[in-house]
Amino acid sequence: MPAMDYALVADLYDLYASATIDVPFFTHVCQGHQRILELTSGTGRLSIPLIEAGIKLTCLDSSAEMLAVLKKKLLTRQLSAVAVYEMDLCQLELPLLYDLIFIPFNSFAEITASQQQQQALNRIYAHLASSGSFICTLHNPTIRRQSIDGLRHPRGKFDIPGADQTLVLSSQESYDESSGLVNGTQFYEIYDSSDHLVTQREVDIHFSLMERSCFESLAVRAGFQINALYGDYAQSPFNPTSSPFMIWELTKA
Ligand SMILES: C[S@@+](CC[C@H](N)C(=O)[O-])C[C@H]1O[C@@H](n2cnc3c(N)ncnc32)[C@H](O)[C@@H]1O
Repeated sequence: MPAMDYALVADLYDLYASATIDVPFFTHVCQGHQRILELTSGTGRLSIPLIEAGIKLTCLDSSAEMLAVLKKKLLTRQLSAVAVYEMDLCQLELPLLYDLIFIPFNSFAEITASQQQQQALNRIYAHLASSGSFICTLHNPTIRRQSIDGLRHPRGKFDIPGADQTLVLSSQESYDESSGLVNGTQFYEIYDSSDHLVTQREVDIHFSLMERSCFESLAVRAGFQINALYGDYAQSPFNPTSSPFMIWELTKA
C-alpha cells in the first residue's frame, strides 16, 4: 500500500511543508562526510539548504513528480550537477557506497509493510561504507498517537505565489491498533481572492507508527548496531514518554 500519491500534491507540497527544524542537525551530521545519500528527498526541503551549505549530497526519491520540483530548484540555482535518482528505496541499487545515508522527515514510516521495511534496511546496509552511519528519523509513536482522533482538523492556510489564490489544508487521521497504521485523508482546497472554492483534492494517506522495539529488531536483523537514539533534533536522549521523535544513528555492526 503506497503511503500517499505524491503526484497529486507535488505542485503544492512546498507551500505547507516548509519546516526547517532539522536543517541545523543534518548540516552538523554531514560535516566531514564525502559521500552522502539522502533517501526520500522529495522536493528538496532539506536537500537544497544542505547543498547550498556546500554538502555533497546525492538525492533519491520514488516520486517523479516530487523530483521534478527538486530538479527545477537545482536548475534555477545552477546546481544541476547534483546526482538525483528516481528509485524505490526498498529496491536501492546504486553504483557507490556512502559514508552517510539518511532518511529525514519521518519518511521511513511511509513504508508500511514489515517485509518492505526489512528489505529497505537491508538495501541501505548494503550501500553503507564499512565505517559509515545511517540516520533514520521516525515519530515517537506514543506522542504522535496523541494527535490522532479520527476527526478532520485544519492544518493551515497558505498563499499560492503569483496566483492570487489560497490553499486551505485540513486532514483526518485514524489509528488502527491491530496494524499499527495511521490511515486518513488530506483535503486540499484552493480558494480565489473572493473566497470562492476554485478546486479541491482529497488524498488518502497511510503510514506506520513504528514502535521502538520493532524498528530496533529490524535494524539489528539487517546487520546494524545502534549507536545513538535521540529524541529531538537538539540530540537530547530519547525519552519514551515525552520525546517527539526517534532519531536513530546506526552503524555497521
Ligand atoms: C513527506 S515527503 C518528505 C520529502 C522531503 N524529505 C521533505 O523533508 O520534505 C516523503 C517523501 O518520501 C518519498 N518516498 C516514500 N516512500 C518511498 C520509497 N519507498 N522510496 C523512495 N522514496 C519514497 C515520497 O515520494 C516523498 O517524496
